[in-house]
Amino acid sequence: MSFRPQPPAPARPNRCQLFGPGSRPELFAKMAASAADVINLDLEDSVAPNDKDRARANIIAATHEVDWGKKYLSVRINGLDTVHWYKDVVELLENASERLDQIMIPMVGRAEDIYAVDALVTAVERAKGRQKKISFEVIIETAAGIMHVEEIAAASPRMQAMSLGYADFAASMGMATTGIGGTQDTYYMIHNGQTDYPDPWHWAVAKIVGACRTHGVLPVDGPFGDFSDDAAYVAHARRVATLGMVGKWAIHPKQVTLANEVFTPSPEAIANAREILAAMEEAKANGLGATTYKGKLIDIASMKQAEVIVRMAELAGV
Ligand code: COA
Ligand code: MG
Repeated sequence: MSFRPQPPAPARPNRCQLFGPGSRPELFAKMAASAADVINLDLEDSVAPNDKDRARANIIAATHEVDWGKKYLSVRINGLDTVHWYKDVVELLENASERLDQIMIPMVGRAEDIYAVDALVTAVERAKGRQKKISFEVIIETAAGIMHVEEIAAASPRMQAMSLGYADFAASMGMATTGIGGTQDTYYMIHNGQTDYPDPWHWAVAKIVGACRTHGVLPVDGPFGDFSDDAAYVAHARRVATLGMVGKWAIHPKQVTLANEVFTPSPEAIANAREILAAMEEAKANGLGATTYKGKLIDIASMKQAEVIVRMAELAGV
């Protein structure tokens, strides 16, 4: 236990991040009208290499012309291993409107990657006299990224969120699967003749949550590729929510509703949390640090757990 209090993560809803390719501007108004908390306009993998310039121009125009309402507006730039990223940063920050909130940096491997982008962003912001300081989110999607996850979370005061990028992560780790999230047919155990399918992503998810919580960053789950399987999306989302993630990507608009449902506490969960808080207040008034609620032990730590649920509800506005 450290004497330093755990820093809070940014106080904004981040239940769903909806992605759309920068090369498909006809989707932008639909994205703005969606129920996602965060919008990610993409310059990276969903945009073909010879389309990068056009996608950048589309996104810059959209920061001026589209009404994004209260959404947190983020643009995914290309990775530092490409020839595109410096133009993404410079052209965006020189020309995008002040509506732009955040840059998403993919394929980060170490803290120095964030430092490099921070230096460039800081220089362009100062040169252009931009008022809003752009925040950063990153994708952990390489072996180096997961091994250096904590220094990455701590790399800059601009850091607000961190996602797990399943496909690149699996490739970088040499995992024998082409699945993007979810349970995998080949990852199973047999016990007493029963086949069980554990979660092959558990370690990476928990490691990211730990790094994020240590440094006041929002841990966010990445894409779920099979957008025709709602039940599997929800199962995966519920598992990572149980492990501490605050939201999940949508790579198709139908996934937005699913993510919002999972990452907004249910009325029952909120009522349960409020009852625990009330029971503990009563216990404290009677000089007790522990009591029982519905036949189970609750104590001071239970209050902290209940407060997590209440805080989630407040951020979601329910
Ligand atoms: N955001 C908002 N609306 C979207 C959308 C998105 N990302 N993707 C599709 N739509 C719209 C379509 O325009 C269509 O609208 P309509 O009913 O008014 O015609 C409706 O949702 C249904 O779309 P559908 O035909 O099922 O999908 P599609 O074939 O047009 O596109 C994808 C499917 C997966 C290619 C597309 O959703 C997409 O590009 N997703 C984002 C990919 C991405 O950004 N990847 C990077 C992160 S991993
Ligand atoms: Mg990727």
